[in-house]
Amino acid sequence: MIGHVKKALRDSYGRLADDLRISVTDRCNFRCIYCMPAEGLKWLARDDILRFEEIHRLARIFVERYGVRTIRITGGEPLVRVKVEELVGMINSLDPTLDITMTTNGVLLAQKAQALRDAGLKRVNVSLDTLSLDRFKEMARRDAFERVIEGLAAAEEVGLSPIKLNVVVMKGYNDGEVVEFARLAREKAYDVRFIEFMPLDADGIWKEDLVVPSQRIQEQIEDLFPLVAISEDRPAPATKFKFADGSPGGVGFISSVSQAFCATCNRVRLTAEGGLRTCLFSLQETPLRDLLRSGASDDHLGRVIEAAIWRKEEGHLIGQAGFVKPVKNMSQIGG
Ligand code: 5AD
Ligand code: SF4
Repeated sequence: MIGHVKKALRDSYGRLADDLRISVTDRCNFRCIYCMPAEGLKWLARDDILRFEEIHRLARIFVERYGVRTIRITGGEPLVRVKVEELVGMINSLDPTLDITMTTNGVLLAQKAQALRDAGLKRVNVSLDTLSLDRFKEMARRDAFERVIEGLAAAEEVGLSPIKLNVVVMKGYNDGEVVEFARLAREKAYDVRFIEFMPLDADGIWKEDLVVPSQRIQEQIEDLFPLVAISEDRPAPATKFKFADGSPGGVGFISSVSQAFCATCNRVRLTAEGGLRTCLFSLQETPLRDLLRSGASDDHLGRVIEAAIWRKEEGHLIGQAGFVKPVKNMSQIGG
């Protein structure tokens, strides 16, 4: 970019912010119990959501000025945003070597996989919490298990791989299935990531008793399939393992509750309405939409972004006395 030397975004604790998550909608066609109420939420008005051009502009600033290399498209459910593959294409055209991925519930993936791949999407993370049809209906509150499985097959076929599965583990629901998921990882060469249930659900059902610590899950898996830690170039939120016997696939653990990774968090989030959030548990965000719409220059936007990142909170206090649950739930923030 002419006139600008890339400058990394850093916060006051010295952490780098180079993993940008962009939520493209707050809407969703599922009602997962750990996220949304059965009746859904009050959706944002269309005008309040960033247009593709606006998202593209912010993505350009993050990529060109601040050297962001990883962009994850999230929701709500990103595939309910009409023509989201066009946005993927627009971001990809900034730099085709960007690592653009999407977190989706997979129910529309069979329809969209090819278009997404053609537009430049590199991989998908599919949220799938159970391999049981009945439990799926209970946890996602939709009868869509088979369509998600078809979506996974389509993603594989078009090369949106390696496929990652996100499994939110809840005690008394799907915690008896972790070994089955490990088996699936081996069979299909998936990376299965077990996520601890976080207090980001709209119904307020979260309590520590429902959390299954990653350590427990890992022990269950290792009883059958010994694991070997994969060492990373630098600390990452997910701890990753491959199978000791050389089988394909792998497992990972996102231990937000039992072992917070705040000290190494490199994530920054843009909500569907254009709010910059430095933490899932931020109690306030930096609104960028009105600035975008009032003709602010890239320099001006850049200064606001830099200042917001600088103020990134040290970490969350889940399970401790000082914890305050954010007003927004996961679907309104973006995963
Ligand atoms: N705790 C942990 N993970 C959650 N997700 C949604 N709500 C929660 C929660 N309360 C997950 C989804 C998806 C990702 C974006 O976040 O399953 O995989
Ligand atoms: Fe939808 Fe994802 Fe929330 Fe489930 S977790 S209701 S798929 S946004």
